[in-house]
Amino acid sequence: MLWVAALFLWASVSHSSGSDLQFPEWFKFGAASAAFQVEGAWNVSDKGESKWDRLTHRYPEIISDRSNGDVACNSYYLWERDIEMAAELGLQFYRFSISWPRLLPTGFANNVSEDGKNYYNNLIDGLLEKGIEPVVTIYHWDMPQMFQDLGGWANPKISDWFAEYARIVFSLYGDRVKNWITINEPLVDCDWYYGWGILAPKREYFLGPYICNKNLLLAHAKAYHVYDQEFRCKYNGKISIANHLLWMKPYSNSTEDLELTEAAREFLTGRYTHAIFSKEGGWPTVVEETVAKVSKEQGYEESRLPAFTQEEIELIRGTYDYFALNHYTSRLVRKPRASEDVVRSLFTYVGDLDAVLEMDPDWPFGYGPMMPIYPQGIREQMLWIAEQYGEDIEILITENGYSSGGSLIDDDGRISYVKDHLEQVLLTIQDGVNVTGYAYWTLMDNFEWTDGYQSKFGLYEVDFSSPNRTRTPRKSANYYAELIKKRSL
Ligand SMILES: *[C@@H]1O[C@H](CO)[C@@H](O)[C@H](O)[C@H]1NC(C)=O
Ligand SMILES: *[C@@H]1O[C@H](CO)[C@@H](O)[C@H](O)[C@H]1NC(C)=O
Ligand SMILES: *[C@@H]1O[C@H](CO)[C@@H](O)[C@H](O)[C@H]1NC(C)=O
Ligand SMILES: *[C@@H]1O[C@H](CO)[C@@H](O)[C@H](O)[C@H]1NC(C)=O
Ligand SMILES: *[C@@H]1O[C@H](CO)[C@@H](O)[C@H](O)[C@H]1NC(C)=O
Repeated sequence: MLWVAALFLWASVSHSSGSDLQFPEWFKFGAASAAFQVEGAWNVSDKGESKWDRLTHRYPEIISDRSNGDVACNSYYLWERDIEMAAELGLQFYRFSISWPRLLPTGFANNVSEDGKNYYNNLIDGLLEKGIEPVVTIYHWDMPQMFQDLGGWANPKISDWFAEYARIVFSLYGDRVKNWITINEPLVDCDWYYGWGILAPKREYFLGPYICNKNLLLAHAKAYHVYDQEFRCKYNGKISIANHLLWMKPYSNSTEDLELTEAAREFLTGRYTHAIFSKEGGWPTVVEETVAKVSKEQGYEESRLPAFTQEEIELIRGTYDYFALNHYTSRLVRKPRASEDVVRSLFTYVGDLDAVLEMDPDWPFGYGPMMPIYPQGIREQMLWIAEQYGEDIEILITENGYSSGGSLIDDDGRISYVKDHLEQVLLTIQDGVNVTGYAYWTLMDNFEWTDGYQSKFGLYEVDFSSPNRTRTPRKSANYYAELIKKRSL
């Protein structure tokens, strides 16, 4: 049983301790951002509309400060300053994303925007001139609105449209970009958008997320094969998918909680990773069985979880060169108590599993109620990944960060967060897991989706009241620059 292995895992975690605080020379430090959150210039030149342009304009009430990404950090114009900041920090890589509707105004591959193409050429070339490796996410949630109108990820054609978009991206930039991420955090883009619904927050109908889930895995796989078959031998880069992993711990050591926790991991993580990274491929068995059982009880003719054909399983299986991990926070898992009034949303409840995700009252908070801090979680998470998907799997941490709210320049909370998490990363390397790099989220304050501009994750503060969007380094920026220089905590 898996839970026996899990127990073994915890025992090993508690025993080793960090003495050598030096990072190996091959370990890379970076920072991350995403197009919609920083670029602005939402309607300049021939850029198409994205689903986030539409959402923020039509339903400003879903954004806590009723803001939008129209200007954001204005990085469409201020990209040279962004590169300068990456250089000030001494970053070895900068992870950013390409806006699909900026590069392909209609979404389709038959019309490439000249201005969009040049924007990313400039950014890539500028980074390389400073010796900073571009790590590029092909899709970070800004679906072309035209495709969204047709269902977005719920449309079975989307995987082909995405693969055609990816082919354009590889052909334009593959000569210089050697590390690709197809899609960022499908859990959030599928489960949150289609299920726990920012537009229908009380909805519990778990159908959209599963359809999105399957089509998105196919889209990732098709883009991977395009790279593998048409570009790899020429450019010799790497490609993966970035998943958001909420580390889940059992509420107690009862057999029930241990099994439920492992099932919850498969529901929130495995649903987006098992098909790609496991030896057998397809859905995790516990997900397949649970959804089939619940669907039947609900009177459906077939499971709400769409099945894979054998051909699809083979198409998706093994489509990775490394594991891209976004990690912020953890939860405890248990069954709801009798007549408990459960908050049903993405990071508080696991739908078909009927499992509650609770926060440990001992974990401290940064800004906002959703992100309690538990640094050991990132290590336990990576040990789990290695146990599930192979001891020799390479893991690149593509996001980890701390939101401070307010505009604090003296952000000691962020410094502790980074230090404590990197210490756990070092321990994980000592455990024998091949963790090859770390990207802090995020380079500068930006549009944090439904938190608008109130949630601040930046190493650099951005003055959103100034037309110049002036960027000022926080104390943490100096800390991170020093850390990168010394390569030690
Ligand atoms: C672009 O959007 C802004 C609002 O963000 C609006 O003021 C401006 O008129 C729009 N420009 C064009 C060319 O539509
Ligand atoms: C491509 O986009 C440009 C600018 O919007 C437009 O003028 C042109 O007709 C488009 N071409 C195609 C083939 O859609
Ligand atoms: C479960 O057992 C492990 C290993 O003995 C221990 O470290 C952990 O604190 C226990 N968890 C709970 C919730 O009691
Ligand atoms: C870690 O992964 C990298 C990239 O795949 C590889 O070059 C390196 O040899 C691996 N290191 C170990 C210790 O396995
Ligand atoms: C914006 O930048 C320009 C050019 O550097 C400068 O002249 C101006 O004073 C700045 N404005 C603000 C509000 O910071």
